[in-house]
Amino acid sequence: MVNIDWKNLPFGYMKTNCNIRCYWRDGKWGELEVSDSEYINLHIAATALHYGQEAFEGTKAFRGKDGKIRLFRCAENAKRMQNSASYIKMIAPPEDLFIEAIRKIVKLNSEFVPPYESGASLYIRPLLIGSGPQVGVKPANEFLFLIFVTPVGPYFKEGFRPVDIVIARDSDRAAPQGTGHIKVGGNYAASLPGQEKAHGLGFSTVLYLDSKEKKYIDECGPANFFAIKNNSYITPESHSILPSITNMSLMELAKDMGMSVERRKIPVEELGTFEEVGACGTAAVISPINKIVDIEENKIFQYCQNHEPGPISKKLYDTLRAIQYGDLPDKFNWISFID
Ligand code: PLP
Ligand code: COI
Repeated sequence: MVNIDWKNLPFGYMKTNCNIRCYWRDGKWGELEVSDSEYINLHIAATALHYGQEAFEGTKAFRGKDGKIRLFRCAENAKRMQNSASYIKMIAPPEDLFIEAIRKIVKLNSEFVPPYESGASLYIRPLLIGSGPQVGVKPANEFLFLIFVTPVGPYFKEGFRPVDIVIARDSDRAAPQGTGHIKVGGNYAASLPGQEKAHGLGFSTVLYLDSKEKKYIDECGPANFFAIKNNSYITPESHSILPSITNMSLMELAKDMGMSVERRKIPVEELGTFEEVGACGTAAVISPINKIVDIEENKIFQYCQNHEPGPISKKLYDTLRAIQYGDLPDKFNWISFID
């Protein structure tokens, strides 16, 4: 085992043994190449650099009490990368290549998968970039698919503690008919000003509204938004939000717990009626939200009592984590093992 302070891991980059790469050239994917270099050799006119032709993914590996390493629904990440790639005119790795690369790189870095007791995990970051040169605005004719891994702790420093967030009324991460529904770097660049402003004001992240009318809730920094009311799990329907694999899983868990699930537009005014609200994603897992502040409208929505997560958010969080770490049976078939 490597010597790492597993319990105090931030959500950040750490060098591991190796990463994995594969090039699409001359109409086909090449071999998976393992590398111990943290750098890539890239053409100065690569489309990823100039025109943002790139997409990425995020998934995690978990070590159970039994010591076994578990992957969570990574076929869904393969599919989402295909959607992202197709929209911005890239060639994506087929699902079997994507999964083979994940399995190989996790295995080669198995000592970096945190121990069960730490509550940490191995973050897996697949990346697809236009690596071929263009000067006109055109798709590349060569693509590089790579994956690095890094052990991580919670995305928000609070972990499973409630966070305070602020509504972004003066910035958007995605245009109404833009790229919000796919996982491309440009969305994250566009989110930096809002995020920096929120941090400066002491908030963990930003709650985005729909960028056309500013009437409905979109999503919550790098995570989807959900709310609980009258035994219902409610989450926004919008073209501009990323279809979250965590959210998809929570919807199934909520149904399984006897709740109804509503996927629909959520008007901002409805914020005052929810019993619990939270953000969810691979990195964020579930972050219960304590307070939503709407500065321009001079409103504060408060959810947590004594700064404690609500009971349904806690149950969803505990159930999801227990499935991921193997403490509950995998009845939805979400887990695959690294042998
Ligand atoms: N929304 C955005 C903008 C994200 O970056 C992410 C992270 O991947 C999510 C939502 C959550 O998606 P997932 O649960 O698939 O990680
Ligand atoms: C994830 O949850 O996997 C993400 O990609 C969030 C991230 C942008 C840090």
